[in-house]
Amino acid sequence: MLQDSFGRRFYYLRLSVTDICNFRCNYCLPDGYQCGESIARENPLSVAEVDTVVRAFASLGTEKVRLTGGEPSLRKDLVQLIEAAKQADGIRRVAITTNGYKLPSEIDAWHRAGLDQLNVSIDSLDPQQFQAITGHDKLEKILRGIDRALELDIPTKVNAVLLREHNLAEFNHFLDWIKVTPVSLRFIELMRTGDNRDFFASNHVAGSDIENLLLRSGWEQVVRSRDAGPAKEYAHPDYAGRIGLIMPYSKDFCASCNRLRMSAQGALHLCLFAEQGIDLRDAIAGGDHEALAEQIRAAVCGKNASHQLASGFTGATRNLAMLGG
Ligand code: GTP
Ligand code: 5AD
Ligand code: SF4
Repeated sequence: MLQDSFGRRFYYLRLSVTDICNFRCNYCLPDGYQCGESIARENPLSVAEVDTVVRAFASLGTEKVRLTGGEPSLRKDLVQLIEAAKQADGIRRVAITTNGYKLPSEIDAWHRAGLDQLNVSIDSLDPQQFQAITGHDKLEKILRGIDRALELDIPTKVNAVLLREHNLAEFNHFLDWIKVTPVSLRFIELMRTGDNRDFFASNHVAGSDIENLLLRSGWEQVVRSRDAGPAKEYAHPDYAGRIGLIMPYSKDFCASCNRLRMSAQGALHLCLFAEQGIDLRDAIAGGDHEALAEQIRAAVCGKNASHQLASGFTGATRNLAMLGG
């Protein structure tokens, strides 16, 4: 079992399959990707390399793999990547985090490939506001995709980064939506990254304020499974959906860290805000998953106790598209 020097165990791998994204979320990639950047030029991990990475992590006790990006559905071979993530002995769940623009046309194929869980970013339920935040008029299409995922019984979570100047006023609209929609709606506290310092200063909303509001109105916390992400989840008898709160600035947020990250270029990141990644591409390309597993095991001893966001340290992470959040 993979364990760090603080006794934390790692059941969950977040694997980025491209840094490139087609959206321009104002808190993440306000200027989008530069024209001319292509996945071919980026040379991300191939299907065979993903296969090796997942076998290595599975041999170390990893049970869940989440494919992230950038936008993973920009990969034309995403179905094969899902299959590759699913094949290793010990991997019980394959999940994806997507901006959702390809859901209506692709979700059936992802489901057939073995996708177990779906997370979709929706920062506003108002089409105009959605476009203002993301740069794209795709809300209606994404909501149709979520309906289809629910028809297929895929457990679905929706991510909304709370932004003081852009969507905080919609809080009650979001709550009305989950009265009838059986998704886990997660309010994410905006994180400061290398690129968004000024935006962060004017838009950060403390997750603890939202938590107090929920506790005053009958929401109750539910228990978290060992391969769950960092959200504290709440349920209410009058609502079909649940609420998750992701509060990276809260005390002890990192004490329950159970996940490691791999960049699209094969660098192991011990934390979302690590100072640097550890380049394992040669070992990955070599295809020997046992040798790769030994390198991962050795590297994990160097994982720090927590991020240092409160003191303004954002490490190598200029934006979350780089490493899939
Ligand atoms: P599941 O519980 O598996 O659904 O995972 P998740 O909530 O971690 O997945 P998702 O990709 O939807 O991420 C939601 C938010 O949580 C994103 O903003 C991530 O950046 C953030 N997040 C996930 N893990 C960490 C972490 O280890 N540290 C920090 N600071 N943020 C994280
Ligand atoms: N702070 C919090 N969440 C962020 N995301 C992207 N950038 C940030 C940030 N700076 C979210 C996206 C997506 C998830 C993977 O990370 O909205 O839902
Ligand atoms: Fe793209 Fe996700 Fe960043 Fe939005 S948050 S720009 S969808 S990577």
